[in-house]
Amino acid sequence: MANVTRNIGLSLGADICWPGCYEEIVKRLNLSIPHGGDSLDFHVERITVEPYYLRQPVRYDLVLDRLTHWFHTSREWIKKAVIMDGLYVLNNPWSLQSMEKHSTYSAMMKLGMPIPETWMIPPKELMSDNPDVHPTMERYGRHFKLDEIGERLGYPFFMKPYDGGAWVGVSRIDNPRQLHEAYEGSGKRVMHLQKAVDPFDLFVRAIGVGPQVHIVKYDPAAPLHDRYKVDFLFVDGEEWQVLTDTCLTINAFFGWEFNSCESLRKDGVFHPIDFANACPDFQVTSLHYHFPEMVKNMVRWTLFCAATKREMQMNQDWKPFYAIAKKDLPYSERLKGYAKIANERMETDRFREWCDKHLSHLDEVALEFFGTDVAKGYVRQKVAALFPQHEVPRFTEHFWGLIQFWRKTETDRLNHSKAAKTPEAEAGQQPIHIDTHAPETAPQAQSAGSNGSNGSNGSGASTSVSTSSGDVSAPQVPTAGAAAQEPASAQAGADLSVGASASSLSSSSSSSSASSASKAPAASTPPASKPGNKFNGKKPKGKN
Ligand SMILES: Nc1ncnc2c1ncn2[C@@H]1O[C@H](COP(=O)(O)OP(=O)(O)OP(=O)(O)O)[C@@H](O)[C@H]1O
Ligand SMILES: [Mg+2]
Repeated sequence: MANVTRNIGLSLGADICWPGCYEEIVKRLNLSIPHGGDSLDFHVERITVEPYYLRQPVRYDLVLDRLTHWFHTSREWIKKAVIMDGLYVLNNPWSLQSMEKHSTYSAMMKLGMPIPETWMIPPKELMSDNPDVHPTMERYGRHFKLDEIGERLGYPFFMKPYDGGAWVGVSRIDNPRQLHEAYEGSGKRVMHLQKAVDPFDLFVRAIGVGPQVHIVKYDPAAPLHDRYKVDFLFVDGEEWQVLTDTCLTINAFFGWEFNSCESLRKDGVFHPIDFANACPDFQVTSLHYHFPEMVKNMVRWTLFCAATKREMQMNQDWKPFYAIAKKDLPYSERLKGYAKIANERMETDRFREWCDKHLSHLDEVALEFFGTDVAKGYVRQKVAALFPQHEVPRFTEHFWGLIQFWRKTETDRLNHSKAAKTPEAEAGQQPIHIDTHAPETAPQAQSAGSNGSNGSNGSGASTSVSTSSGDVSAPQVPTAGAAAQEPASAQAGADLSVGASASSLSSSSSSSSASSASKAPAASTPPASKPGNKFNGKKPKGKN
């Protein structure tokens, strides 16, 4: 029996926390997977930037890339490695290069998604580096009245770059005066005007890693470290399925395996407003409670792809999606059809089987790892890179406290899953006990919904989660569709009464999806959270 090593390369920029945790967890899994007559193990290393010749062989089986969208040396090396050496990379660099917001809106409109009405307008100022631009616009530039477009679209709407990110150049427009001001200020940028989903009563981000979709409630008006909420019962099972299928459809359509889809709910309908985010935020300083699940999802998907030598989808094949789009079916049925294609492309069933067989210990390995000083060290390093020095201890404890809260809910989920198994299978399995030390400094009270934006709930369906006393009241078990399809999901977060003191965290409610096998959809109607009027020039969060 020979030992075969699969090499995973991490193409990194400013990332600190997740690569460290990812590497540690892969190491601690201590894998030796039977493979034909051989045994497979995994080696993870960070890729360096250096000159290369085009025929230079590549030693990686899979590359997880975080630089494509801005660092072209790495992007071009990756493209050559895919072409010449059959490298598997996530995400597909060509797709990222060619798909901006504009194309993604158009494509998903074509599939029938409720994307808000969107216009594109020529830039206010002409680009100066091409002499042809003047004759082109003199001959063909058609005069237009901005006010008329504003009237036709209807206020309020958002002006945003057609290819933007990080909220740069995004402004909310409530009247013609603001429209003219924003256009004046837009300079050479090519802008969209997009009808506002207003008022919305829920903002979610669905973060897809391969076939795994993690759905998080989001508050764009909150401070940066508090935008991703620790909430559980904010969608019902049917909504959870729609959000999951929407994210899978978008990702399979564009060939993205790591992407975040933002949707706003108005009158019971989720409107996707931004889903060209194929290098999503993966930092503990944004994701906090959700961070461990994201790292686990990435471990599962990359190990599966590397171990099975699954072939990367190099070209996008849109025809099967368009064939369904043409059918005379309600959108909900078409969406199910798109999701079926997505699940086939992502090999969802094979992936789940593989994880059950080879990574059944991942949950417990991660649970233990995220209680160690090593994990805390990565949190501290990331905080130190972003926060002023005097705030480092406080915010380290803040994020660490939220991770320890995740360990409480995760412990409970795992114990419920064990209890749900047959008595025979259960025999000999001891419940997991975790030790969550009280952090030296309590996390900030404004985290996880205590800033007032989540505090009340009109539906009365909200469930409070408070760990300040170590006593956590239980969210409701969801009842609808997805919960029935995913039995384990009914357990996720269903009883959080793990006796351990943790963060001073209080939250109005309930469940986020946990792992591929345990998603907890839920129902509650949080109050609307409106973004401010102007986001211009601010870069509220990094892409990495
Ligand atoms: N159509 C819309 N209706 C309501 N709010 C919107 C709409 N479009 C944008 N917004 C608000 O503006 C914010 C930024 O817009 P958008 O996500 O499209 O820009 P971005 O630059 O890609 O941001 P990010 O990098 O965070 O994804 C959104 O998070 C949302 O709060
Ligand atoms: Mg966005």
